[in-house]
Formats: sequence, C-alpha cells, structure tokens
Amino acid sequence: MPWQEVVVDCRPLGFSATAAPRYSCRLCNSHFHSSSPACTKATKARVSIKEAMGTRCDRNSLILGLLIGFCVLFQCSANLWDTNALLVVNASKSSTRKMPESLFGVFFEEINHAGAGGLWAELVSNRGFESGGQHSPSIIDPWSIIGDDSMLKVTTDFSSCFKQNPMALKMEVLCDNHGTNICPVGGVGIYNPGHWGMNIEEGKTYNLVLYIRSLESINVTVSLTDSIGVQTLATANIIESDVSDWTKMEAKLKAKGSNVNSRLQLKTDKKGVIWFDQVSLMPTDTYKGHGFRNDLFKMVADMKPGFIRFPGGCFVEGEYLRNAFRWKETVGPWEERPGHFGDVWMYWTEDGLGHYEFLQLAEDLGAAPVWVFNNGISHKESVDPSNIMPFVQEALDGIEFARGDPNSTWGSVRAKMGHPEPFDLKYVAIGNEDCWLKNYRANYLQFYAAIQKAYPDIKMISNCDGSNGQLDHPADMYDFHIYANASTVFSMANTFDRTSRVGPKAFVSEYAVTGNDAGSGSLLGALAEAGFLLGVEKNSDVVEMASYAPLFVNTNDRRWMPDAIVFDSSQSYGTPSYWMQHFFKESNGATLLKSTLQANSSSSLEASAIVYRDTEDNKNYLRVKVVNFGSNTVNLKIMINGLDPNLLDTSGSKTVLSSTNVRDENSFANPEKVTPVKSLLETAGKNMDVILLPHSLTCFDVKMKSDITQMTADDTAYVSSM
Ligand code: AHR
Repeated sequence: MPWQEVVVDCRPLGFSATAAPRYSCRLCNSHFHSSSPACTKATKARVSIKEAMGTRCDRNSLILGLLIGFCVLFQCSANLWDTNALLVVNASKSSTRKMPESLFGVFFEEINHAGAGGLWAELVSNRGFESGGQHSPSIIDPWSIIGDDSMLKVTTDFSSCFKQNPMALKMEVLCDNHGTNICPVGGVGIYNPGHWGMNIEEGKTYNLVLYIRSLESINVTVSLTDSIGVQTLATANIIESDVSDWTKMEAKLKAKGSNVNSRLQLKTDKKGVIWFDQVSLMPTDTYKGHGFRNDLFKMVADMKPGFIRFPGGCFVEGEYLRNAFRWKETVGPWEERPGHFGDVWMYWTEDGLGHYEFLQLAEDLGAAPVWVFNNGISHKESVDPSNIMPFVQEALDGIEFARGDPNSTWGSVRAKMGHPEPFDLKYVAIGNEDCWLKNYRANYLQFYAAIQKAYPDIKMISNCDGSNGQLDHPADMYDFHIYANASTVFSMANTFDRTSRVGPKAFVSEYAVTGNDAGSGSLLGALAEAGFLLGVEKNSDVVEMASYAPLFVNTNDRRWMPDAIVFDSSQSYGTPSYWMQHFFKESNGATLLKSTLQANSSSSLEASAIVYRDTEDNKNYLRVKVVNFGSNTVNLKIMINGLDPNLLDTSGSKTVLSSTNVRDENSFANPEKVTPVKSLLETAGKNMDVILLPHSLTCFDVKMKSDITQMTADDTAYVSSM
C-alpha cells in the first residue's frame, strides 16, 4: 500500500471504546476514517491512499466523479459523504418475500458424545457391558472393580437374557460377612463413573433399573457416591431370596447431596456369584420425562429451530456399513437394543437415543424432523444397485415407523413405544456426502422412486450439489455443506445469488468456519457465518433450510471443533456461533424486505431486513441485521423507504454480538464473554443513524404499528411516493 503525506482535518471518534482510537478526517471534499496516531486535530497525518480514498486535491474531480457515479449506480438519495455506509430498505409490499417456515434449524449428529453422555440423560456408560465387543472376557470400561483379587473376580460372559446384546457381567464374591475372608466394611463390587462423572444433584431422584441373577439369595447395596466412593449421596438395598432367573430390579435414589463427578456403585459383602446386566440410571427430571437432559434441551429449544436434521453426518454412513447407524436396531425396549460402535467418531453408543427418540425430540422442539438414512453407502463400501432393495425397504420401514398407522407393521412398534399418533416426518435425506461415491446415483434413483410411490408428499434430499447447475436426477432439495476459513465463509454470502431460480432448492445442512479462524469457537467464525446466513436469507427463494454443524461437544471427548454448544456432566455454554444463530431465530416464516447496502468498505459489510411477528408480545417488528466483518467502526445510515413513518415506533432495541478481540471465545470460566448485549435504541424510525462496532453483528428491532405484509394496495400509498 503506497503512503503519502497529506494535510488532513481530523477529530477523534467518540465511539472507539472497544478498539484502537479512530479518527474522522476530512480533506477537500472527501471524508474518511483513520487510525493514524499522528492524526489528532488539524494536523499532518500519514494515511494510505486507499484509506483516504484518494485525498490529494489534485485528484478531486476524478474522485468526485467516481462518487457521483457510484451514487447514480445505486440510485441513492442519501449523502454518502455523511456516513460510511448506507442501507436502503424498501418496505413496500411489492418488495417483500415470505421466507420458508423452516429456514433455520439444527443438525444433531451423534458426534462428540452429543447424545451418549450428552443430550440423552442416561448416566451409566456401557450399561449393557457390550461396548468391549463380543468376546469373553471382554473389557468393561468404564466400569471398575471395588476390592482386590482376594475378594472378588469380575469377568463377562454370554449369559444375558437379551438375545441382541448377549454380554453380561459376572461378579464372583470371594469374601463374606463372616468366616475367614471378611469383606471390607461396605463390601466389594463394581462402580460406573458415567460419562466423565455423573451429575448428582441434592433433592433430585434418580431411577435405577438393573437386571440381576444369582443362584443364592442376594444382598446388594446400590449407591451414588463421590468420585472415590467416600461420600454417599444416595443409597438403596436390593435384598432378594430368589433371583435364579434374570430379574428386573428398580430403585428410586433420592440424592441427599450434590456432586458433579459422582459414580454409581453396586456392592455386597455376601459371598456368592451375581450376574448384572443392563444397568441404567436416569434422572427423573428429563424434559417431559422423555429422556433429554433439561439444560441441553433448553439450549437447543432457545434457538427456536424450524427443523432438526438427524442422526448424522458421517455417523449415518460409518467407515464400514456394519458400524453405521441402522434405525431398526435403535427402536423398541432400550434393554433390547444392541448398541453399536460408531467407527467414524470412534465411540460406543447404547442407542438409547434412537429413531423414536429423535422423532420425539423433533416434536418436543416443535421442529420439522429431517431424517438422514443410510443408503447402502459407508465411507469404504457401496452396495451394488442390484442389491440395494433391502436398504430401500429399510428406509420405507423407517418412514412407516414414523408415520404409519398404529396397526401397520412398524407403526405398531412406534405405538407400543408410547406414540400412537404419527410423527410429522416430511423430509428425508438419501445418504450423507455420498454424491461422488460409487453407485450413489444408481442407488438414489431406486430410493427416490420407491419413496415417491409410497409417500408422494415426502420431500427428498439429494447429496449432489445443485448450486452450480441442474441436478441430473430428480430431487426436492440438494444438500450443501461448507466448512472453510472465515473470509471464505463470509464471502459466500453471495453464493446463491448466482443459483438457478428453478429446480430443487438448497438445504445447507452443514456450515461452519473451521481451522485457525474458528479455534474452538471464535467471534471471528461467528461473524463470517452470520454474513453467510444473511446471504441465505436474501436467497431464501432458492435456499429452503440451513443448519450449523456440529451442534454439541462434550468437552471430555472432542472429536470435532468448533461446535455450537459445549458441555460436561453439569454445565454448558454457547460458543459465539451458537449466539450468532439467535439473531436468525425470528427469521423462520418472516418477511424479507429488499435492502441495498452502499458502503465504502462493502466487502466487510453484509445486511438484511425482515419483518417478523414476535410470538411473545404478538407485535410486528422490523429487524435490520448487519455484520461488520472489518476492523473499522462504521457509521451506518438506515433508510426505510416505502413505509408511512407513522407506522414505526420511535424507539426500539439494538442487540450486539462483539468483543474486544475478534478471536475471543467463551469458556466454562467465562461463558458469557461473547454473548449478545441488548440495549435501547432511542433513534428508531424511518431514518436511523447507527454505529457498528468493529467486528460485530448488530440487530436493530423497531416495533411496527401495523403488519405491512398484510396491508392492501391502498394502505401502501407510500410505496408510490418512493
Ligand atoms: O459435522 C461433522 C461432519 O462433517 C459430518 O459428520 C459430515 O457430514 C461432515 O463431513
């Protein structure tokens, strides 16, 4: 960048609290901002030619010409010299467009222990002792033994009463409460630390279910303790004289203390052999009793997702098909589900969060379910089209499970599980990221034809990208994934401007800034994503849905970074990308207004304008969202055209997502470092002069006295005066 000495008239800008000092400078007729420390009052400052927009007086006429040309080009009536940027919003009815009801939603993948050890509230990890594989003896992690070899022997065998998951734990107690080999006080046994510690809360009740068998009478103490088994939080005794057949035992454990790193212990001081299987501990206070951890459910519900895509992702595919998520093995009684090792994200899931629970989750969130099913393709295999029919039938059965009559084969399984009414499944995705894999198209066509015949209303999503040209196969939507650095994602705000307006619409089912720019969830990443989403809003005639990925991470086992919601056994926080999505939650079904941004630094600004109805106060609001992706403060003039100014309130609110450093992240220590800050907007109305902080996402909400989207032509007299 060339530099030159010019004399400029500068005054400090009063709103640079969060950044290096900035100065408003004027030379001849051009007006610019500078960060030059030499630039204080009327003084000599070294400024770049670009920064000064060509401040040399001998280039005056050229610059003036360019600026006039710029203004004519954009047909602006406002004075660009007075502000850094101008946003002209056209609120006339003819310039509006309704956006899809489910434009913004969430993508739940079983990755990072999002479900197992996360949203699914089951506290026991490896409850059926199956995770070590079907070998005997098998590893029983994370179960551990209390006592030593002289007191007990613990192993696994195939004695379970559940056909699908045959492994059970055999505990041979050698010590006794009398005789020569006396058990230690409290007994010996096994304990389970859950998924990196169980969160046990005082006053709450936990449902324990376990299957037990012994040829002798038993006296087993079940207890919740701290991580070393010293402090007892809750306890119950199982005393039975005849459990020679597998017997289901249940106990309610009420905690008299709290510990976020607790464990479950099963102990005895009575000599004998006891088998345990399917040991489950569920808090009683899950969301509606449906098994979802309350705080994590709330985090998702607060985003008001219009849809939920599930259960993956690569999780659906598997490295190998034998390790893929296959829905039929995830329904029915939880004890009978075999569970599986997800070989992409490399951990065992009991599949307590199965096909039924995902559909229930969607219903509880009020979000449209989008089911991604395995299409006979894993990362390493692809079923030949001549053999694909069983997979097609599996998909049809999965839809029947969701929507079928309670008397149908699979609808009856659902009804038996507690949901006789059908779930509202209208979207299915045929595989995940498989377009370029062998057999995708040939197999796809068979899935498509069969589903269309059986369920003509179901919308099908292809894995092939239709954003650059028409697909060569029928589809209702095409899947679009984008993971890239911040500037790439921000610049992709225009991606769908060029997309054909006819044909299947885009489902941006996975987007995120990744790599260094994102860290483990930075403001920088969130701002770039916001810019991209503003482009999605503007192109919502060709983009039907969009969701960030991944949604969750258990901080004890990160498989992917960044993520929207970070949690451990007891706490959670949202990354800036999570909070960024809150700025878009009113957009589902809202009305988009045409808006034109004119700025000197247009490459670092993105904006949109919508009208939405707030469901809490039932009032209509005009919302302008602007991302300032640059490091300069921006003076923005917002002009609302085509609207009777009396229809707008004179005050409103402003919500800002920003921070002192664009790389800032949230953490358990500082969970609210980068979160939206709401304040009063005193200068609301038809013309608003607002300030955009460097590196910020700002949303301006102004209450409207009428719903302009409902106004008749007569009401919109102001339209013609534009
Ligand atoms: O979101 C994480 C992974 O990224 C998904 O499983 C996959 O679809 C994509 O590659």
